[in-house]
This record gives sequence, C-alpha cells and structure tokens, in this order.
Amino acid sequence: MKISIFGLGYVGAVSLACLARDGHQVIGVDIDQAKLDLILAGKTPVVEEGMVELMAQVAGNGRVSVTTDVRSAILDTEISLVCVGTPSAANGSQDQAAVVGLARQIGRALAHKIEPHVLVFRSTLVPGTVEGVLKTTLEAESSRKEGVDFHLCFQPEFLREGSSIRDYDKPPFTIVGANHALPVQRLQALFGHLPCKFIQTSVRSAEMMKYCCNNFHALKITFANETARLCEALGVDPFEVMDLVCQDTQLNISRAYLKPGFAFGGSCLPKDLRATTHLARTHDVELPMHAAILPSNQAHLGLALRKILATGKRRIGFIGLSFKTGTDDLRESPLVALAEQLIGKGMQLAIYDPEVHLAQLLGSNRRYIEQHLPHIGQLVRGDMAAVMAESEVLVVGLSTSEVAQTLARLLRPEQTVIDLVNLPDRAALPSTVQGICW
Ligand SMILES: NC(=O)c1ccc[n+]([C@@H]2O[C@H](COP(=O)([O-])OP(=O)(O)OC[C@H]3O[C@@H](n4cnc5c(N)ncnc54)[C@H](O)[C@@H]3O)[C@@H](O)[C@H]2O)c1
Repeated sequence: MKISIFGLGYVGAVSLACLARDGHQVIGVDIDQAKLDLILAGKTPVVEEGMVELMAQVAGNGRVSVTTDVRSAILDTEISLVCVGTPSAANGSQDQAAVVGLARQIGRALAHKIEPHVLVFRSTLVPGTVEGVLKTTLEAESSRKEGVDFHLCFQPEFLREGSSIRDYDKPPFTIVGANHALPVQRLQALFGHLPCKFIQTSVRSAEMMKYCCNNFHALKITFANETARLCEALGVDPFEVMDLVCQDTQLNISRAYLKPGFAFGGSCLPKDLRATTHLARTHDVELPMHAAILPSNQAHLGLALRKILATGKRRIGFIGLSFKTGTDDLRESPLVALAEQLIGKGMQLAIYDPEVHLAQLLGSNRRYIEQHLPHIGQLVRGDMAAVMAESEVLVVGLSTSEVAQTLARLLRPEQTVIDLVNLPDRAALPSTVQGICW
C-alpha cells in the first residue's frame, strides 16, 4: 500500500519503519527538517530499541521517502496516518494546534484528489475531535464530503516508548473507530496480520478508550505506589503485598468491578477505605488517590439523586435496598443513603427488596437501618407490583431478570425508571428506562 505518515516523532517514526519493513511504500512528512534528513540518511529520529538497525534496513530497500509537502504526500498515497503531537496547553486542555493546522493543509490537498483517500488519526484526541473539529475543517477546506470523497477514522496507538517496535508488532488489540467499511478494510490490510483482536467501534468510543487506557495505567501505578508508601511506614514488604494482590485473578486482575453502575457500599469497602486513610494519616503518609475514592463514590450517589429529582415527580419506588443483589445487608448501602436523602426532601417512598425481611434483621444490620430509615416498616411493600402500582418513578437497584421482566410487564407509559444496576437485556426495556450514566 502507498502510505503517508504525518508527524515523525515516536509514533510516526516507528510506524514508518515498521510499515516499510512490512513491504509498504511510505512517505514521511514532518515540519522538522532535521528529522527528515536523519530518515533520508537511514538514521532514526527517535531513540528506541531496534530503530537504528530497522531504519538502516528500510532506507536500503527504497520504500521510504520524506517531504515537507503535504499536498504531494496526499496525492501520491492512498492512506495517511496522522501522528502529530497533541500536548497539554497551559490550562490542561489538549493543544490541538498541530493536528487542526495539518487538517487544513490536508483538506486543501484533498480538493485536488479524485480517488477516495483514507485519513487515519493516530494522535491521541479528546472525544469528539475527529467527527467534530477535524471533519468540519477537512470538509470546509476541501469542499469534499467525508464518507464519499474521503474517509476519516481513529485508530488509537498503544505503543510504549522503550519497547515500541515490539509493541507495534504485538499490541494488546487493534481498535478502529470508523463509520464506513472502506477505512476498516484498509486498516485490516495494514494491521490485520498482527497477533491480536481487530475491533471496530464508533469513532468517539475509540477516542475515549485511549484516554481510559492511559488513565487506568496511571491509576494502577499510583495505587501500587501509594500502597508501597503505606507499607514502608508500617514495615511491610510492598513487593510481597502487591505480588499477592496480583495473584488474585478473580477479583483483582480481572474484569470484576470494572462495569459502570451504581455507587459501592456495604459493610466492607467504605469502612476499610476509611481505616486505610486514617492509618496513613497517623503515620504522616499522604494517600491522595485513596482519600479521593469515598468522595468520588459520594459524587456518584449525588448524580443518582439529581436524576431522580430532575423527574419532578414525588412518589418514588425502590426496587432493591440492600447494598447489592442477593443479600439483606443494609449497612452503608448507597440505596439506603439515597432513600434517606429523598425522604429528607419530602418524597414519598415505597420499597421492595426480596431479601430484606425486617423481622429477621439482626445485630449491626438492624441498628444501621433503624438509625438511617427509622420508619422503614411503613415504607416496605410485599412485592414489586405493589411498589410499581403506587410510584411515579422507579429506582432499580436489583439486577435480576425477574425485575426486568416485571418492569416490562407492568410499567405504565407515564412512569420513569432510573436503572442503577444495568438490568439485563436493556434493549428489551421500554424507552422510559434511563441508566445512572446513560
Ligand atoms: N509517545 C508515545 O509513546 C505515544 C503512544 C501512544 C500515543 N501517542 C500519541 O501520539 C501522538 C504523537 O506522539 P509522539 O510521542 O510521537 O509525538 P512527538 O512529539 O514525538 O512527535 C510529533 C511530531 O509531529 C511533528 N509535527 C508537528 N506539526 C506537524 C505538522 N503540521 N505536520 C507534520 N508534522 C508535524 C513534530 O515535528 C514531531 O516530529 C500524540 O498525540 C501522543 O499523545 C504517543
């Protein structure tokens, strides 16, 4: 394939070398003449393991050329990878000057192109940039239509500096955010041979997931480092602790707890987080990330409250009250906290939870509910139908197929459902069902 690569930093230079190695004809474009001269001389513009040898090898096979001329690079190739920098601006926003400026130039070049061109954005871009800013700029400058005369897509880059050639050859996956088949086919031809899944998604999801990956990596590092700081103060071996933590592939290093839903609660997580941060304070150890978890959880609860209040309705039915499906444990249940706040705002509540039998609640569980919802006896109903009959808004905190089926059967058009738990088979639910985050 004939490929142009815009921006020959870590991402662009490694892509250029690997694509030329794999037999493609590659034109490198950069505004930095020094980088172009190095590539022309068979040298690498970035310090990366294996790049010295690879650049020397591909320079010899005649498949690499360089230019500063955007127009010729677009006219002489069928697909372009855009890898220019997107650094932080002073206020923390993404500085898109390079990518937008380049889009203007590419747009002017596309005005002269007959064959449909594929533009692949590989720079990290805040969600909405490709379909908003870049599409508009390219269409305005070229007087051509995206999806007809040229095609845009977003393919996040996952290589890590220091091991970028190895990461290029063995990425965790290939993700392509695209709205048309043509760019997906072209990228299949370029990257389909790699030993990983090739996944097509929406452009915005692809843009967003790149941020999620980097944020998650930063979170993991910070978690390990904060844990180590506390371990050091306590005289515990942090390597041993984190090694043990990582050996749990059921709950720790797994998909568990990574599905968006409602706030956490229960008798363990909140109290253990409080104990951890208190312990750190007593040893003068700062754990800002751990300390931010409960406030963040509280913000999630606040979002649910605002969504319920925004309906403007006053008769609220709770399906579920315990801190998670399948238990009668009400201690620190976020649903109890939500119910308490709604009662405080003068709402009328009706509650059903198949696991919560007031007469059988014992010990700290009983004390907790008596303290937080002292009139719970008057609020609890014997079945879900009774709650549905008297409520204008249904707050669903129980994730079972019975709940979904009863909702589908008995829901009246004027009732609103706030689904906090991602009920199964969402597509089969009536459109009046809204989730906490969707
Ligand atoms: N470095 C990484 O490990 C990595 C990994 C994944 C994703 N990314 C993302 O990829 C993008 C590029 O990162 P990088 O580290 O390779 O950046 P970089 O700063 O090393 O290189 C960017 C290159 O773009 C060039 N450039 C700027 N304006 C240009 C223009 N108008 N036309 C042509 N070239 C132009 C610069 O001269 C420079 O050579 C960023 O969005 C980054 O967030 C980087």
